[in-house]
Amino acid sequence: MEFTKSQRVFTELCKIIPGGVNSPFRGFNQVGGTPPIIVGGKGSQVYDLDGNAYLDLCCGWGPLLFGHAHPHIVEAVQKAAVKGTLFGASTEGELKLAEMVREAYPSMEMLRFVNSGAEAVASALRVARSVTRRPRIMKFEGCYHGHVEALDAAGQEAQEAGGPLALGASPGAAAETVIANFNDLQSVRELFQRYPQEIAAAILEPVTGSMGVIAPQPGFLEGVRDLCHQHGALFILDEVLTGFRLAKGGAQERFKIQADLTCLGKALSGGLAMGAYGGKAEYMRSVSPTGPIYQAGTYCGNPISVAGAIAELELAFQPGVYEHLEELSTKLVEGLKEIGGFLVQNVGSMFFIAFGPERVQNYQDSLGFDYPKFARFFHAMLQKGLYLPPSTTDAACISAVHTEEEIDRVLELTAQVMEKFDK
Ligand SMILES: Cc1ncc(COP(=O)(O)O)c(C=O)c1O
Repeated sequence: MEFTKSQRVFTELCKIIPGGVNSPFRGFNQVGGTPPIIVGGKGSQVYDLDGNAYLDLCCGWGPLLFGHAHPHIVEAVQKAAVKGTLFGASTEGELKLAEMVREAYPSMEMLRFVNSGAEAVASALRVARSVTRRPRIMKFEGCYHGHVEALDAAGQEAQEAGGPLALGASPGAAAETVIANFNDLQSVRELFQRYPQEIAAAILEPVTGSMGVIAPQPGFLEGVRDLCHQHGALFILDEVLTGFRLAKGGAQERFKIQADLTCLGKALSGGLAMGAYGGKAEYMRSVSPTGPIYQAGTYCGNPISVAGAIAELELAFQPGVYEHLEELSTKLVEGLKEIGGFLVQNVGSMFFIAFGPERVQNYQDSLGFDYPKFARFFHAMLQKGLYLPPSTTDAACISAVHTEEEIDRVLELTAQVMEKFDK
């Protein structure tokens, strides 16, 4: 495979944009090498500047539930753009979309649209602190919530960046963050005991997507919710990655649980910039202008993202979509397990491949990942035309437009890679 043109553009990008990327992992920092410069995508395929084609197993880091440039989404966005890209005033589309989200997520009695997952998380934390009048937030080591200071300033993300507090973060923001272990209710209990009446909320990914794909053990989510409620704290599920991916109603439908506040993003809007947060009406009514909690944004609920999101959810709400996605995912994951030589874990269409540990249940387990080995595997797969996320810790995904034949092809090519691997 040739990457000459990509290399040339990437070199220029690096001169003007830090690391050549507008979000760090795109820079292949974990796997090394030059990232291909992408020129387009169609369905399950992406194409680079040198004319290489890849079967996409990254799906935009999760959002692309219907692949690239789906005609229904493209048409909706084009029609919206012709009418005007921004009004700074409400549109009917926002009502339609809010109703669709609430249909899928009954726990979101009221909700707000924002521009990203991180914005949804930051806003939800603000609501939790305001309604409980408490300062502290409980997060779970290894759960990722986006670029949100209270959450990424402390714990492993800060340590990975070189210190107990992320450089540039406010010490106050991190000081109020307390850290529990995923799949470990005792750690949650202890924190509530150590900080009585101080914890506003516990926030977690119901299925993790950034320390490997880890399912909650039976009773874990319910246990966290019950402890939150016993101690007067809110139970926040960050469904930015799982929302509309694991089921129409995301992890809440899949695991039959409801959150006090929910954060959405990614697959909500089929590749357009959008997030949403919401929950019990009594909390959401406290948001400005009906209440005192300030949250605002010029592009929040903009007509282009809203049109894309409605089109995406129209596709997602068609009968059989999630059953089909589940069948494809099972075929893929079972096939990968049969090939062997690596760890594969999945929940629905979120999966990951790693070398090292035999299974991963929490952040501690994820410390055993063999990064250099994954890097070699990643590049061998890329050479075969398979585009995984360039990170062993992050969830790979398939979309509902991947076909059975493509899954067979992934398995055949992975088997070829593994045959030569370590030999
Ligand atoms: C679970 C989770 N929450 C929040 C975010 C942040 O979303 P965004 O990148 O849209 O800000 C991500 C992004 O990867 C995520 O996976």
